[in-house]
Amino acid sequence: MPLTYVSMRGAASPLLLSAAAAVVMLGAAEAHGSAEAASGNGAVRGVDQSVFGQLPDGRQVDVYRFINANGIEMRVTNYGGIILSLKTPDVRGEFDDIVLGFDSLEDYLSDEYRQANPYFGALIGRYGNRIAGGQFSLDGETYSLATNDGDNHLHGGRQGFDRVLWQAEPFENDDGAGLILRYTSEDGEEGYPGRLEAEVTYTLTDSDELIVDYRAATDKATPVNLTQHSYFNLEGEGGGSILDHHLTINADAFTPVDETLIPTGEIRPVAGTPFDFTQPTPIGERIEQDNEQLTFGKGYDHNFVLAEQAASPSEPVLAARVWEPESGRLLEIATTEPAIQFYSGNFLAGDLTGKRGQAYEHRSGFALETQHYPDSPNQADFPSTILEPGETYRSRTIYRFSAQETAGS
Ligand code: GLA
Repeated sequence: MPLTYVSMRGAASPLLLSAAAAVVMLGAAEAHGSAEAASGNGAVRGVDQSVFGQLPDGRQVDVYRFINANGIEMRVTNYGGIILSLKTPDVRGEFDDIVLGFDSLEDYLSDEYRQANPYFGALIGRYGNRIAGGQFSLDGETYSLATNDGDNHLHGGRQGFDRVLWQAEPFENDDGAGLILRYTSEDGEEGYPGRLEAEVTYTLTDSDELIVDYRAATDKATPVNLTQHSYFNLEGEGGGSILDHHLTINADAFTPVDETLIPTGEIRPVAGTPFDFTQPTPIGERIEQDNEQLTFGKGYDHNFVLAEQAASPSEPVLAARVWEPESGRLLEIATTEPAIQFYSGNFLAGDLTGKRGQAYEHRSGFALETQHYPDSPNQADFPSTILEPGETYRSRTIYRFSAQETAGS
């Protein structure tokens, strides 16, 4: 384990970051066009903000661009907290955008996108992943949630946190720059109990990390499971299949599912199965094997139980690493969550055209969603996802970007 992330520089709670600490250079650039010139070598470290578009109800949507000291550039919108683009260097120092997505707000709002809903780059809540039958009982009451994945509830419902406008507050400090996003989910929204105040902070550090901090508080007991749904292609988005990426997941077990992708409750060892990613393995090496779980998932779409648990909600431990041989790009993901969903982009079908005008083909991006287990509200043996009034939900995930000639371990 090369990384443990135990001492985060400047790891003050984002709740302590005040507006006064935020130094923001506003309006310096357009959302599109100038990003190319400014990113990569010779980039100017900083933050700028511009208008991304308007929602049908007239509300303005913004885009924030962050460039760190090494030229890594990230663009985020307050609509769904979507990471629109993320440019990182390959092993030769060439920058490329490694996340799937679109150029314009209209693309994210289009009927075509809403129907396919791959959740490109978005924040997911109130509950990431599935809840069986859209139902659960809590404190003697049964709650019915919106069902949007067959009979199941997926990723917060029809109007999850991926489709709402967040309040945004950019900041810049000695370690990097980022965005605090806040959203209040009302009591009863999508069927959930309690008014939930959620806060997510993205920090792009000068040590080439994206830190995502999640906080939430509620006035009634409710399930909460927040995550981030970026799809990566380390060769560059639109660059083809992800099957040659080498994946390592620090998990000795996973939660098998039924044909609707609801966990059966079993915690199954990965040893001897195509789910063993304890050593770096190309994603495509076993994906076509005759295996009931791969059939149900149409590939990988499973929750991996992490072998090492974080000692505290501010000390993430390494969960997964992905290395791409052409570019040499390496992505390492550390988290305080107990699990990670590995989704190999099986529902991408070539019918959505991305930023470069390239169709996003089957398995041309993967997601690694740090989370609690799916359907936890209905599975007493899974770690609890219930947030009680007076408690603070806290979770942290760190994505670290680098490049190297070999896979490493
Ligand atoms: C998650 C789910 C997948 C799929 C994608 C979005 O990763 O587990 O089954 O719904 O989101 O397409």
